[in-house]
Amino acid sequence: MSKISDRLNRLSYSQTFVMSNKAREMKAAGIDVISLTLGEPDFDVPQKIKQAAFDAINENYSHYSPVPGFLELRQAISEKLKRDNNLTYKPTQICVSNGAKQSILNVLTAVMNDGDEVILPTPYWVSYDEMVKLVGGKSVFIKTSIDTEFKITADQLEKAITPKTKVLLYSSPCNPSGSFYTGEELEAIANVIARHPQITIISDEIYEFINYGGSHVSIASFPQVYEQTAVINGMSKAFAMTGWRIGYSACPEWLAKACDKVQGQMTSGANTVAQRASITALQMDPSELQYMIREFHKRRDLVFDLMKNIKGFTCNLPKSAFYFFPDISYYIGKNLNGTEIKDSDDFAMFLLENANVACVGGVSFGSPECIRFSYAASEKDLKEAMHRIKKCLDQF
Ligand SMILES: Cc1ncc(COP(=O)(O)O)c(C=O)c1O
Repeated sequence: MSKISDRLNRLSYSQTFVMSNKAREMKAAGIDVISLTLGEPDFDVPQKIKQAAFDAINENYSHYSPVPGFLELRQAISEKLKRDNNLTYKPTQICVSNGAKQSILNVLTAVMNDGDEVILPTPYWVSYDEMVKLVGGKSVFIKTSIDTEFKITADQLEKAITPKTKVLLYSSPCNPSGSFYTGEELEAIANVIARHPQITIISDEIYEFINYGGSHVSIASFPQVYEQTAVINGMSKAFAMTGWRIGYSACPEWLAKACDKVQGQMTSGANTVAQRASITALQMDPSELQYMIREFHKRRDLVFDLMKNIKGFTCNLPKSAFYFFPDISYYIGKNLNGTEIKDSDDFAMFLLENANVACVGGVSFGSPECIRFSYAASEKDLKEAMHRIKKCLDQF
């Protein structure tokens, strides 16, 4: 009998970490590996934000904060949501957590009963399905493909809803596809969900600012679903603060209270120094962060041009976030130099071992025919990585 619970045994390790660890091991063994696995900006935290953290330490912000976060931070979030998203949330509707990841888990824990269903437009971020398992739920996948920029339609959504559906969970901008939903598309989705008041939408907007294709719209801005929506966002991606672990949820009052209850028994308030620094970050003019977005945009165009010439890759032009998610079906079922390629995880491992480039197979994103490359890396590494892959695959 396993000493580990059935619940935990149902969970998988994140494939992103599996591949990045393997790449790290190869590097430690002296192999020149380029890793395009991790979803984190390669920029430093802006100096102003660092200074706010030094000040917080000197001002002795060293005690527990309120469970949902300092009031001043929740006020800054409330103002940000108004300024950038035209959303009205009082500080009592906001819960600050240890990253957006915890915010999502708080909401799922708050609303899910055993056997409830969560609709996941596929491809989805790797942790969603695992979190659903952790709270005793069942994921219902709506499959999409590169032909529709990996987006679902309102019609597909309607068909996937059952009396057990409790949550619709998606990211827009999307990790891994790099697509985002337009206002029109979101309105059609909102109209469907509004007809099913038992459903809560978890709208993960962590890549909000990394968008080169249009303006970001939050589904919570459609009044018919405001009372049914949890908006998730945080500091990790826009401010390059992945290690500072600050995310937040903005919810209707009933759900915000429930998140506060969950977090109060699990982790208490998030790190106080990072919370204080986040106030400064959120009060910065978004234009001060444009240099990062411009850089990502440049790299996106560079990689797209190089990737188009790689044999067997079908890729679209991702309009947001910092990922490419090419379809590599061409290689599935083939034998490459003695390696059987059953799915894109096998293919990602093949590229790591034969081209010394690490990426992540699409299996854990729900798309076994695609692979994910992060372009949060230097231009030099991106060029070299695409060159190595092309050279390796040209022979097949
Ligand atoms: C779609 C998505 N949501 C949430 C997160 C987690 O963000 P955080 O660092 O705030 O926990 C990530 C991180 O990769 C992500 O890609």
